[in-house]
Amino acid sequence: MGGGADRRRQGRAGAGRARGARTRRVSRGDERSEADTGPVLVTGGAGFIGCNIANRLAELGHEVLVYDALTRPGVERNLAWLKERHGEQVQAIIADIRDEDELARAAREAKAVFHMAAQVAVTTSMIDPREDFEINIRGTLNLLDAVRLKGDRTPVIFASTNKVYGDLGDLDFRLDGDKYVPMDGEIAARGIGEQRPLDFHTPYGCSKGAADQYVLDYARSFGLATAVVRMSCIYGMRQMGTEDQGWVAHFLIRALEGKTITLYGDGCQVRDILDVSNAVEAYLKAWERIDAIQGHAFNLGGGPENSVSLRELLSHIGQLTGREVDVEFSDWRAGDQRYFVADTRRIRSALGLSPAVPWKEGVARLAEWLRESRAPSAEFIAATTGVVPAGAAS
Ligand SMILES: NC(=O)c1ccc[n+]([C@@H]2O[C@H](COP(=O)([O-])OP(=O)(O)OC[C@H]3O[C@@H](n4cnc5c(N)ncnc54)[C@H](O)[C@@H]3O)[C@@H](O)[C@H]2O)c1
Repeated sequence: MGGGADRRRQGRAGAGRARGARTRRVSRGDERSEADTGPVLVTGGAGFIGCNIANRLAELGHEVLVYDALTRPGVERNLAWLKERHGEQVQAIIADIRDEDELARAAREAKAVFHMAAQVAVTTSMIDPREDFEINIRGTLNLLDAVRLKGDRTPVIFASTNKVYGDLGDLDFRLDGDKYVPMDGEIAARGIGEQRPLDFHTPYGCSKGAADQYVLDYARSFGLATAVVRMSCIYGMRQMGTEDQGWVAHFLIRALEGKTITLYGDGCQVRDILDVSNAVEAYLKAWERIDAIQGHAFNLGGGPENSVSLRELLSHIGQLTGREVDVEFSDWRAGDQRYFVADTRRIRSALGLSPAVPWKEGVARLAEWLRESRAPSAEFIAATTGVVPAGAAS
């Protein structure tokens, strides 16, 4: 994560007009959609989940303001994709959420905010906990205060994490083949609910957890229209997965490249994975129903039916690629949970969500996208090898 804020505005053709002066009818899908003004602000909108939310919002007719420092390698491609698909409907501010003034200007004109920008990796937070603190806590506070000082009820939906529940070290597990299963039958059947006590582990867990609590408290203390979504592992198209974060895409990328994958721990860790299309639906519905859910936090993941161990995922990837994946093992990482599966009953009933994409189907889709998006273009192959691939236009 770069320390200095690279601040430059991009493609802000409408920057000269009066902020919020434009009124348009949009298909927001709720009863208050008649005269919303201003763009929807998506912090971290070039990132994996953010760009998928931004894309959906633009498809529904909203103007979108992406606010992103482009610190994650590769996310500039997501921004280019958004601009290509939606043109001027998607505007971007390339800036850091630690830049209080710039963020306040962006928030001032927004009719709703999805707050995705963050230092996202536990590993990075162990190397530089102070920067993690500055981005995740101070950045979130900057945003909340910007909205508070507007003096209206601009909804703010925050991307939190299952890491706020810690390592679940008090639970007993047994190994069932390649996966950990909780001894508690109710948890094994339903997953972890929101009543679970908070227990922050690692600097990332602390910073996201503190931000999560600030977001909820701003509803309590100041009446802001905020809500929190505590996510398990989200995967899907436009994910720039690395070893540090985004492991489903990371495993697929390594496997497609024929490279070895390092498993930290024994690989029997279990997660409930959720396709990003389902996450996007949840965020948009959280906005729609913000009056009903204000001040509440919800767990969101694939649930028990989409829970999978790392080993099981690797075996599935081997089937998809037609080649067994090379694996090496290393020590457990700090704060790593043997098991986390979200109990999604509460968010499903509060927001009326569609069924989750079955994980094997979603992972196959992601593999397909990665294959296509990472394949070298015909021009590249021709330029580097002098060979024009069969079927390429001459
Ligand atoms: N992907 C998951 O499985 C998952 C799970 C739980 C929680 N989350 C949370 O969801 C959010 C989105 O995650 P993602 O997977 O899309 O990650 P991502 O890294 O793809 O997106 C984060 C975006 O924030 C931007 N960013 C980082 N620091 C910034 C800063 N200081 N100022 C402005 N922009 C900055 C990055 O450039 C990136 O585009 C994060 O808050 C993350 O903690 C994600």
